[in-house]
Amino acid sequence: MNQQQIWGEEIKQWKKDKNAIILAHNYQIPEIQDIGDFIGDSLDLSKKAAETNADIIVFCGVTFMAETAKILAPKKMVLLPSKHAGCPMADMIEPHDVLKLKQEHPGVPVVCYVNSSAEVKAVSDICCTSANAINVVNSLDSKKIIFIPDEGLGSYVAEHCSKEVILFPGYCATHYMIKKEEVEKARKLHPNAPVIVHPECRKEVRDASDIVAGTGKMITLIKDHSSNEFIIGTEEGMIYRLETLFPEKKFYLMSSKLYCVNMKKTTLEHVRNALLHHQHEMMLPEPLMEEAGESIKKMLMVG
Ligand code: 13P
Ligand code: SF4
Repeated sequence: MNQQQIWGEEIKQWKKDKNAIILAHNYQIPEIQDIGDFIGDSLDLSKKAAETNADIIVFCGVTFMAETAKILAPKKMVLLPSKHAGCPMADMIEPHDVLKLKQEHPGVPVVCYVNSSAEVKAVSDICCTSANAINVVNSLDSKKIIFIPDEGLGSYVAEHCSKEVILFPGYCATHYMIKKEEVEKARKLHPNAPVIVHPECRKEVRDASDIVAGTGKMITLIKDHSSNEFIIGTEEGMIYRLETLFPEKKFYLMSSKLYCVNMKKTTLEHVRNALLHHQHEMMLPEPLMEEAGESIKKMLMVG
């Protein structure tokens, strides 16, 4: 057995002994996807965290995801195997930015993308993910909303609802690497493949594509789609996920620039150490969990 296989075996054993569950985001490296009990998008992962009977949740993703899991399952031990796995977009906004927006637009509800800190969620009215952002915005009884922190997703939502949307200039550095020229180049190489991009992409990229979908919706759309090949405009880990689910179909990554370093930080060794030594435990102050939890739970009521 090589070292990776030894860690894989240890993970299986510790998971059983400690009644732990491994949740992994669709962008994780193949070795992590292979040992995940559940692999999914931000929305499905948070729902899993809320409903699991496991005592320990090992969250293979980035900080905001483990925070959300802890808020939804406060009595469980939530572990983030790589403590350096953050999300640069989440770090672009702080609570004082939200409070300033609220002051400038009194009474206007703040919709907060889950790719944000617990502190920012706590001063927002409701959360959303890429999967439910339009429904969340439409559920609000207000003609105007503030959308934070992602300008990409926020502008996509604005195009699909009849409300005025006030945006914040946050963005995903990975998805923003892509410009419309990359879409055109990929189409030339694979002229019969529909182009699917994440709503975090720039408007010019979304407009040049055929389908805009979060990672969860990408899976359901591809499952029922008549095409056997697709150009994928999201983080490269998604390609392994799609190839595993649909081995008979072909997937072309739109550009090698679609690489999120933070999503790649978690390794098998980290997961093994997380289970063995309970590192790194996600801890949040009780009042913060309660306040941020309100925004997350309101989102889950929408769907
Ligand atoms: P999804 O919820 O679509 O999986 O997106 C999460 C994310 O971080 C995208 O960059
Ligand atoms: Fe954050 Fe973008 Fe990485 Fe998603 S892909 S975790 S939004 S930096």
